[in-house]
Amino acid sequence: MMPLPPQVTLVEVGPRDGLQNEAAAIDTAAKIALIEALAEAGHTRIEAGAFVSPKWVPQMADAEAVFAGIRRKAGVRYSALVPNIAGLERAIKAGVTEVAVFASASETFSRRNINKSIADSLAGYAEVATAALAAGLRVRGYVSTAFGCPFEGDVDPARVIEVTEALFAMGVEEVAVSDTIGVAHPGQVHALLRALAATVPLRAVALHFHDTRGTALVNVYAALEEGIVTFDCSAGGLGGCPYAPGAAGNVATEDLLFMLDGLGITTGVDRARVSAASRTLEPQLGHPLPSRLLQAESARR
Ligand code: HMG
Ligand code: MG
Repeated sequence: MMPLPPQVTLVEVGPRDGLQNEAAAIDTAAKIALIEALAEAGHTRIEAGAFVSPKWVPQMADAEAVFAGIRRKAGVRYSALVPNIAGLERAIKAGVTEVAVFASASETFSRRNINKSIADSLAGYAEVATAALAAGLRVRGYVSTAFGCPFEGDVDPARVIEVTEALFAMGVEEVAVSDTIGVAHPGQVHALLRALAATVPLRAVALHFHDTRGTALVNVYAALEEGIVTFDCSAGGLGGCPYAPGAAGNVATEDLLFMLDGLGITTGVDRARVSAASRTLEPQLGHPLPSRLLQAESARR
């Protein structure tokens, strides 16, 4: 076990993962205001949207308008998901400088989410990554269902390692190993990261935990002990994938900051300002924000 790192980087995925699964239509102006407020709160990496098929995910259909509307703050990286070359072309036209491709470690989820086998998706992503890098963009990769699949159950860690290696081989600079449905436990996190460390640089691995079973924070702690220094999180704890039944939101940025601040681990992100940003969404959502920290604060009021 390593000593905990003094500093970590947060990747705020609330404007994408958080909003892609909401039943209520969130207007573009509210998305822009959220992204700007999250940047003001100190986030340096924000996933601001997805250039996916609007038929598949209507909540992300306004990605062009979101990117056109945000005032970009110096020092902040704004990224977007792209599933194919058509998505990359849309992103480049919208002035996006960082994209993410999203593969899966389980066949059924891959087909449900992007209508492709894992092998076909990786072949397509290699083309996307090559074109994106040639255009001067930064590229991130995701490996979904790394700890379990909503359709197949257990996922073989060897599959996760294979897909992670394939993403690095196509030139992505970081891979977000993702617990899509929130089934991971810390023992699994230690084991998978130790196995990955044999062939993959862990400094280039991010962890993306959904918090369905309340294990996301302890999973982050386990990952910190293995030397991981980049974590995805979502303002208010919103999130979920429309093609992953039963998945709850990502670990809430507020809850994660409560733990990291308490441990003395620097992030540069201000918890009160993130909370205020999340709260502005509440009237449009039609349900309480999932963050336990925000719910505890509401109960005290
Ligand atoms: P398909 O239907 O197989 O694709 O979808 P197609 O190539 O046959 O195209 C069908 C139609 O979509 C055509 O239009 C295309 O032009 C259009 P039509 O001729 O019918 O009018 N199209 C597009 N339009 C706009 N932008 C595009 C685009 N591509 C095609 N980029 C496809 C395949 C991949 C497009 C579809 O399955 C898709 O968009 N899937 C995305 C699903 C998604 O966004 N899921 C959520 C994000 S992933 C996630 O949440 C997990 C993550 O958080 C990590 C974790 O937690 O695990 C990242
Ligand atoms: Mg996710």
